Amino acid sequence: MSASLPHPPTHVAIIMDGNGRWARRQGKPRIEGHKAGAESVRRIVEACSEFGVRYLTLYAFSTENWRRPPREVAELMRLLERFLAERLEDLERHDIRLNAIGDLERLPLPVRRGLSRVMEATRDNSSGVLTLALSYGSRAEIASAARRLAEDVAKGVLSPEQIDEEALAARLYTADLPDPDLVIRTAGEMRLSNFLLWQASYAEIWVTDKTWPEFDADLFRQALDDYGRRERRFGKVPNA
Ligand code: FPP
Repeated sequence: MSASLPHPPTHVAIIMDGNGRWARRQGKPRIEGHKAGAESVRRIVEACSEFGVRYLTLYAFSTENWRRPPREVAELMRLLERFLAERLEDLERHDIRLNAIGDLERLPLPVRRGLSRVMEATRDNSSGVLTLALSYGSRAEIASAARRLAEDVAKGVLSPEQIDEEALAARLYTADLPDPDLVIRTAGEMRLSNFLLWQASYAEIWVTDKTWPEFDADLFRQALDDYGRRERRFGKVPNA
């Protein structure tokens, strides 16, 4: 496999879909699909270091996912806990900082503890940032930012005239992250599913029919190459 790309996107965000379908096709229980999905996460974090992608954000658990059968939710939480326990070494080796966005208070205590431990251990790493979106919903995030703006106005630290895009973006979970340049979705669906709706305004979108457990470095490389061939115009005319 070839190494770093000349102009990789700075920030790639991924909607990891199709774990269940992959498991069904293999005649396995859904949890096996999530386990194979966790293995893809490991591979793609590694590939980011290799290809020069500095920010990777993964949609690992949405606010809507709480409505799945309790047993599947519990299994996903255990998988997350195990991921946090086992992957610290890789993050350290690649000098990657772990970050998390979402309504983290809703997560079970062992997951919150694991997150805090790994985030603390990697806080000074500076070659890349892996952000896990957990109990994440973009509309809830925007509503919460609006609430914080209102609170600041009520406290008198902000005037209504000062409310602009920058002021709102500064109150999102992603305040410290650049906007994603590329959003990848696996398993064929052409929608954003309440993921980074504000932040992905100008992102390129790349969809593959392959499921998340099938997603590997070669396919990732293909997405990055396709991205490199696209002309990003941000609403302007060509070459303006
Ligand atoms: C979508 O597949 C995937 C999820 C809801 C969870 C994503 C979780 C992982 C990749 C594994 C754990 C993550 C980490 C960071 C260790 P689906 O179940 O919706 O698939 P389906 O649409 O085919 O049923």
